[in-house]
Formats: sequence, structure tokens, C-alpha cells
Amino acid sequence: MAKKKFPLAHVYRLLEPGPVVLVTTAHAGRTNIMAMSWHMMIDFEPPIVGCVVSDRSHTFGILRKTKECVINIPTVDMVKKVVGIGSTSGRSVDKFKRFALTPGAASYVKAPLIEECYANLECTLIDTRGAARYNLFILKVHKAWVRPLGKIVRTIHHCGRGRFRVDGSMITVPSTIK
Ligand SMILES: Cc1cc2nc3c(=O)[nH]c(=O)nc-3n(C[C@H](O)[C@H](O)[C@H](O)COP(=O)(O)O)c2cc1C
Repeated sequence: MAKKKFPLAHVYRLLEPGPVVLVTTAHAGRTNIMAMSWHMMIDFEPPIVGCVVSDRSHTFGILRKTKECVINIPTVDMVKKVVGIGSTSGRSVDKFKRFALTPGAASYVKAPLIEECYANLECTLIDTRGAARYNLFILKVHKAWVRPLGKIVRTIHHCGRGRFRVDGSMITVPSTIK
């Protein structure tokens, strides 16, 4: 079947990134959460993660100032909260309260963990050279926490306009790659 031209503005939907995550920050006695799907692994160990944080977001300035955050990974049961968190700003909303989420103490950074998320990665900001041009931040993961959920972890993957792909089955293929 012939292929159709695909709008460049929608290319991101084809290159589906990893799971949608919730980035938490803390500054001057206030915490905040933003939803993020534009992130990528850059190195194995220590784990280095690149992520794009819009300069219109409240998180952008807080991340630059505090140089730390937690990447929290939600599961599909939290999807409505994730969309709500990604549609409101910490400038005017206390998102932990609004979305009934529980902040937990991290051990390396001041930003809180989200207890309801199945995994939490405590990160520091190690490189902002891409921030001015691409809103690109490079994070180093110092501590990682995971609640064992068995083989299937139903994370959500953003496909645009409120559509999400939900992780389901896992297949294993003999391989030597990491
Ligand atoms: C599913 C989803 C994914 C998102 N991914 C990103 C992203 O990768 N980068 C970004 O800057 N904003 C992203 N957003 C938008 C921010 O979460 C949104 O602007 C949020 O209100 C920022 O919060 P803040 O102003 O409290 O920091 C996403 C929103 C949703 C719902």
C-alpha cells in the first residue's frame, strides 16, 4: 500500500519515547510536579538522562535554580492525574494537593518522591549547555527506587492528543546487547 506524507509536526508520535514520567522539584518550601514524555537514556552507569523541559513551564526555572529533581514513573491507573498534572502549572496550583498524591522523602535530593509511582529516580542536573537552544537538560541519576510489580508494568506512552499506548506483554529474544 502506498505511503502517505506524514506531517512533520506529528513525527514525535512515531518516535514514541519511553514512559511518560512525572518530574518533581522543590524550591523555597514549595514542591511541584510536571508531566514529561520527551526524555532519553544517554548512558548506562552512572545513568545519564536527557530531557526537554519547556521554558514556559514553572519547572524550567526551578530546575535551573535547584539543579535537582526526581523522575517518577507512573502506571496506567494514574493516567488521568498525569494529564491533569501536565495541564496545570505549579505557579498557581499545589499539584500534590490537587491530584491527591503523596510526597515522600528522597535520600539524595530535596525534591520529593511520588509514593504512588512505581519507580523514582533521584537526579541532579549536570549539563545545561543545550538549555538555551533546545530546553535540553542532562540529568545524572544518583538513586533509583522500584516497587516490584511482577513481570508486567503497565506504563503509559504518549501518542499525542490524549492518546496513550499502554505497556503490556514482554517478549525475550536471545541477545548479547545490554
Ligand atoms: C503526557 C504529557 C507529556 C508531556 N511532556 C512534556 C515534555 O516532555 N516536556 C515539556 O516541557 N512539557 C511536557 N508536557 C507539558 C507539561 O507537563 C506542562 O506544561 C505542565 O503544565 C508544566 O508544569 P509546570 O508549569 O508546573 O512546570 C507534557 C504534558 C503531558 C500531559
